[in-house]
Order: sequence, then C-alpha cells, then structure tokens
Amino acid sequence: MSQEVRIVTSGKVIQSPCGPIVHGLEDVLVKTTTISDIDGRNGILWYRGYRIEDLANNSTYEEVVHLILYGKLPNKRELEDLKTRLASNRDLHPATVDVIKALAKADPMFALEAAVATEGAYDEDNLKLADALRSGRYKETEKALALRIAEKLIAKLPTIVAYHYRFSRGLDVVRPRSDLGHSANFLFMFFGKEPDPLAVRAVDLYLVLHADHEIPASTFTALVIGATLSDLYSVIAGAIGALKGPLHGGANEAAVKSYLEIGDPAKAKDVVEAATKPGGPRLMGVGHRVYKAYDPRARIFKGLVEDYVKKFGDPQKLYAIASSIEQAVLSHPYFQQRRLFPNVDFWSGIVFYYMGIPYEYFTPLFAMSRVVGWTAHVIEYWDNNRLFRPRACYVGPHDLQYVPIEKRE
Ligand code: SDX
Repeated sequence: MSQEVRIVTSGKVIQSPCGPIVHGLEDVLVKTTTISDIDGRNGILWYRGYRIEDLANNSTYEEVVHLILYGKLPNKRELEDLKTRLASNRDLHPATVDVIKALAKADPMFALEAAVATEGAYDEDNLKLADALRSGRYKETEKALALRIAEKLIAKLPTIVAYHYRFSRGLDVVRPRSDLGHSANFLFMFFGKEPDPLAVRAVDLYLVLHADHEIPASTFTALVIGATLSDLYSVIAGAIGALKGPLHGGANEAAVKSYLEIGDPAKAKDVVEAATKPGGPRLMGVGHRVYKAYDPRARIFKGLVEDYVKKFGDPQKLYAIASSIEQAVLSHPYFQQRRLFPNVDFWSGIVFYYMGIPYEYFTPLFAMSRVVGWTAHVIEYWDNNRLFRPRACYVGPHDLQYVPIEKRE
C-alpha cells in the first residue's frame, strides 16, 4: 500500500514523507556566478556588473558576447578580433546543411536542435574538448578551446536559423558575408538583401537583451548536461529543447499569436479578465518566476517597438492591442496582488512580425542570443564541476509478491 502523501503546497514547498520538496527548485541556489544578476523585486538586471540599460543603449551584441564570455567589455582591437573570428566561423558543415534541408518543413526549433548536434559531430575542436573532459585533462588550455567553441556556436546559430527559413520557403540559401556585423549578416542571410538599419538595431537590441539571465530552465538544462562532461554542442542542443516550451522561450511567439487572435484593442480588457479566472488562459509574455516588477528588458524593447511603429506604422494594431493588455494588467488587482508584469516576451515579437520574420522564428532568435549565456555558465561551472544528481521521494509500494503472467487477471 503506497504511503499516504499529504501534498501541501505553500507556493514553493511540498511536504513529503522524505522531507520538504522545493517545487520547481524555486529559489534553490545551484552555483555562484559573476556572469549576470537579477534584482527581481526592483526589476534590475546586470551582465558582469553593468546594468542592462547601459548595455542596451551603448553596446552591440558582439561587445556583450565579449563581456559575457571573457568577463570584460572589449577594447577596439579585442572587438575587431572577436568580430573577425565570429565572421570566419559562420559557415556550416555540408552534413549540417543537409540536415536543415531534410527538416525544412519541421518547426525551426527541431531543425536547430538537430543541426547543432550534427555540427558538433564534425567539429574537430569539439571532439578534442570532449576527449580532454573525458580524460580529466580540462584546464586552462582546454578552457581557451571551450571559449573558442562557444564563439563558433554563436557564429553558426544565425546561419542555421536563416538557412532553415530559406529552405522552408523553397528559396536558395544566402551565404554569410564576412563584411557584415552579426545582426546585419543574419538579416542578410534571412531575407537575401541589405537590411534596414532600424531592423538591424531591432535584432541587435533583442540579442543584447536576451544574452543571459542567470539560471532559467534552459541554462539549468545546459548546466546539467555540461556537468556530466558531455560536449558543448550537446549542451546547446539540450538547452534549445528546454527553451522551446511556452512557459519559457516559446512565449514570444505565443504572445504575438494572441495579439493577432484578439485583433481589436477594445477586446483586450475581456481577455485580461478571462486570465484572472481559476483555470483561465495564461497571458503569454506576462509574469515571471523571478521578476516581481516590470521586466527591465521589456521596458527597453517597448521603446524600440514605439520607434518602429512611429516609422513604419501599426497596420495590424499589434502595438495598440499589446498596449491595451499592458494597461489592463497593470491596473488589475489580480495581477497587482501576484506581482505579475509584462516580461521580455511581451513586446519582442511585434517588431519581428512587422519585419516579416514568421513567428515560428522568434524562439530561434532567442536561442541565437542566449547561446552565449548557456556556454558561459557551463564553462564557469567547469571550474568547480559537480554532477547534478537530485533525489525523488518514493511513495509507492515495496517488495510486492511477483505473479507469473499465467496467474495475472
Ligand atoms: C522567460 O526564468 C527566466 O529568467 C526566463 C526568461 C529568460 O530570460 O530566460 O526571463 C525568459 O521565460 C520569460 C517568461 C516567459 N513565459 C511566459 O510569459 C508564459 C506566461 N507566464 C507564466 O506561465 C508564468 O508567469 C511563468 C511560468 C513565467 C512563471 O510562473 P511561476 O513562477 O511558476 O508562477 P505560478 O505558476 O506559481 O503563478 C503564480 C500565480 C498563479 O495564480 P494563483 O495560483 O496564485 O491563483 O500567478 C498566476 C498563476 O495562475 N499567473 C498568471 C500568469 N502567470 C502566473 N495568471 C495569468 N497569466 C499569467 N501569465
């Protein structure tokens, strides 16, 4: 007879016969880090000690990559060297291109997972690093190799995403150009033409804002895989699988789809009201496990959306609908009491939808950015690695009498 389990959830902790279970590991600390920090109560985010607002207003994604991977903002020469290395690593192995083509009709996140794993199988550096990790030789020299592999992943993800889009529309791929910056080159490969400067700014700001966020589900997944001393490409393939879910990285796509379905700002209030009812639909892009204030990244990106619609208009009223939802959420007691605010996914999809990027490519864009945070946290954890192996509280029966199949009812 299984033991009677009294499930008492006081938000975070479930009482069990073996002791308290922290549901969803809420607020459980798993490592120290100097990469990023979040003040959830006051809505503040820092990368390596710099406030996200300063980086969003002054830095490109390439500069933020250097900051997160190497711990400092680059000087001019360091930045040029990094941009040259990234630009020289944008191409893919032919086998990877074949995999992307084979998955042209699949959701791009499937293609991203499969393509990253394929690329890793052919990257000699990745195999060399995996060998060093396996034989316990991982030290400063291998750390330099791990950082170079991280750069390759950062350089290649945009190519995978753009190639998938081209194949999915029956178009020829557009090869990367080494004379274009990271975000401009992505748009060039995606649309096959020189991108509008505001579109480049939109992508680059999005990549800066999503580069790291301490230990969300996808980064924790990366750490769990990395702590087994698996290879870095497999770490990223796993993290992409975690990011896909609508409770995490999939919310940006779901948010824009909901604005399109609502179709009229006047309906926003009812939609928000429905979300407050028990079992009601969750508002995508609202709420956060850590932020109990307006997500600073959402506030920054809202400004870009306003610039974009000022210049190009709001033909499907997506900005107007999102603004009505925002106002209804901010003024509703249900959301106020639970400290639920717009998060990073609330505004981001609007600009990309208007730019002509299909919404199934929004989460791949998120992965293109967060790849730097995933790799940086794993490389940081390898300095003091320990396998993750939690426990479960078994509440089933023990030592049952085995009954041969002839005698089973
Ligand atoms: C990202 O962790 C990160 O840092 C992630 C991220 C990153 O940069 O990596 O910031 C990116 O994933 C942003 C979050 C994107 N997801 C969404 O926007 C999906 C919608 N949001 C929710 O599902 C929710 O807010 C979560 C998943 C984000 C957080 O949920 P929690 O912390 O598990 O909160 P909960 O489920 O315990 O909810 C507490 C209460 C509940 O109501 P009561 O039981 O108290 O009555 O708040 C309610 C929930 O029903 N609630 C919502 C809601 N989110 C929470 N009600 C309506 N709409 C919502 N969106």
